[in-house]
Amino acid sequence: MILIVDFGSQTAHLIGRRLRQLGVAYQYVTPEEISTFSQENRSLELGAESISGLILSGGPASVYEDGAPMIPLGVLERGLPVLGICYGWQLMAKLLGGTVESAHKEYGPETIAFSNPTSFGLREKTCTVYMSHGDTVTVLPQGFEAVGQTKHVLNAAVVNSSQQQYGVQFHPEAAHTEKGLDLLEYFAETVCGESLTPLALNPEQIIADVREKVGSAHVLCAVSGGVDSTVAAFLIGKAIGAQLHPVYIESGLMRQGTREQVEHLFKEVVKAPLIVVEAQKQFMDALSGVTDPEQKRKTIGRLYVELFSQEAARLSDVTFLGQGTIYSDVIESKGSKHASAIKSHHNVGGLPADMKLQLLEPLRNYYKDEVREIGRLVGLSESVVMQHPFPGPGYAIRIRGEVTTKRLEQAKIADRIVLEEIGAAGLMERVFQCFPVMTGAYSTAVKGDGRAFSEVVAVRAYESDDVMTSQWAHLPYDVLAKISTRIVNEVPDVSRVVYDITTKPPATMEWE
Ligand code: XMP
Repeated sequence: MILIVDFGSQTAHLIGRRLRQLGVAYQYVTPEEISTFSQENRSLELGAESISGLILSGGPASVYEDGAPMIPLGVLERGLPVLGICYGWQLMAKLLGGTVESAHKEYGPETIAFSNPTSFGLREKTCTVYMSHGDTVTVLPQGFEAVGQTKHVLNAAVVNSSQQQYGVQFHPEAAHTEKGLDLLEYFAETVCGESLTPLALNPEQIIADVREKVGSAHVLCAVSGGVDSTVAAFLIGKAIGAQLHPVYIESGLMRQGTREQVEHLFKEVVKAPLIVVEAQKQFMDALSGVTDPEQKRKTIGRLYVELFSQEAARLSDVTFLGQGTIYSDVIESKGSKHASAIKSHHNVGGLPADMKLQLLEPLRNYYKDEVREIGRLVGLSESVVMQHPFPGPGYAIRIRGEVTTKRLEQAKIADRIVLEEIGAAGLMERVFQCFPVMTGAYSTAVKGDGRAFSEVVAVRAYESDDVMTSQWAHLPYDVLAKISTRIVNEVPDVSRVVYDITTKPPATMEWE
């Protein structure tokens, strides 16, 4: 197996994901764990598996910062092939005698030019790679040779072939890095000597695990009608039948028609009796005066859990709260030791510490595209598995600043317009998500010869597979024009419409 040392990058978990895709066994270790292994000069106790190589992930720290996660030089001297990615490469360079400096920061797509692509098993001389860094290696350690550079980074891909040590400044694990999977395949298969035996996704195993964990207990399952919670509830339903109690909370923050859609889905497809909790007023009251995005998410999370706990108390034997949490929710809510907390997804960081119910999250280790595939494998229709995701806190995180009744109404009308126009242009399948944002910025407009000073609406539409990286959608100008004209005319008190043309990284999909 390959060991991945996790220095906390937002995409560190994608490295394992890609190895799983390739069919290579892997295990994550923290820098602290691998340090012990090196100091004690013994092998990590990892069962019978032998370790064929190391991947050092990226991370948010700088190698010269106090408290930056470290590993001892000894780890690199054990004769194992090593691939350092971003921070992992910078750390490797520093330990081996190179120099790392704060440099031109790059976030998003860059073009790499390879002088020798075959060193990484590639044929292409140039390709697009995803960058997310502030530091760079300015002086290479002895024995290393640069084989790829971008406009600003001379040592963007480096190799010391006699030691089988490789470094890349970019993120090969990111879906938007062209040939990233080929590069990882080359490292795993050719350099580390792993054989590739791709594993199929196994919904039956997930169902069996749920059955074993839950036993005869009952599960209250939070459902929103979205892909993740529907697939999770469907799997839980298959595992425990009538012990499943799906609950939909009508927060008033969801898209129009969502409740009817969920009622239909649970009656006809999942075939479990749905409990609907009316809570519009409670959500608006709780959000009154709340402007801080983190506080907003936590307020919503707390209220959701309170309402679910009340429902659980009404039913006997409920010990689990089932949720459709997926891996990107976890990692963005600080899922690993050295990761930065980007935001608290309401179903992860928003949960109170004293919650009585145990969590049941059968999809916690999977990415969106895998969840879709699992849904297909258990027979859910394309219209269910391919629908656009809609965040659990709903419009509340698409309204920057306070959520008032008026702004909620504006967001709903603008959202309907965006969906209608992108749908009419036949582009719904091309985009992963599309939505307006009430930005909280105000600007001047001239309406009917009078001055209006009103809110700016931003429209965001992007393409993605796994939500960890994305490209903004190059929507046709006439579609953008229709959206803009309709929003300024049909949504009261909007001064202008802007289109968000930022990739992720650096910008997250949502504005909060
Ligand atoms: P970001 O903004 O983190 O979004 O790049 C990644 C994906 O997650 C969705 N999202 C959420 N979903 N609860 C959810 O259920 C949340 O708190 C939340 N925040 C973001 C977002 O819509 C995108 O699909």
